[in-house]
Amino acid sequence: MATIRFIREGVDIQCKTGENLRDFVIREKLQLYGLKGMLGNCGGAGQCSTCFVSIEGGSKNSLSPLTSVEEEKLKNRPKNWRLACQTLINSSAVILTKPQSPPSNLEELKEKSNNKKLSR
Ligand code: FES
Repeated sequence: MATIRFIREGVDIQCKTGENLRDFVIREKLQLYGLKGMLGNCGGAGQCSTCFVSIEGGSKNSLSPLTSVEEEKLKNRPKNWRLACQTLINSSAVILTKPQSPPSNLEELKEKSNNKKLSR
């Protein structure tokens, strides 16, 4: 088991290791997509670039390595961004959904997150 902390939503949710991050977020009924992705997404095929998340904490190997699809699609994005549909969960991590439209109180949310221990 692993714990994924969602900074924006202020929740920690347990999941199975090896689980696909997009599938997990959708199953937990959290909002993965911004407006563009809600209007249309590729269903996890790595084609639409709408399932962005940023990785804000965890260990170096908390998530699977970048896929070749991500290397292409994320080349002009921040280094800590991933496509949720291409990402498998190896161990606990801290994630921001929809980093393309960060909440106005992001620094406050990050500080709150940093002050809580993440269960492994
Ligand atoms: S859902 Fe389309 S790239 Fe991830």
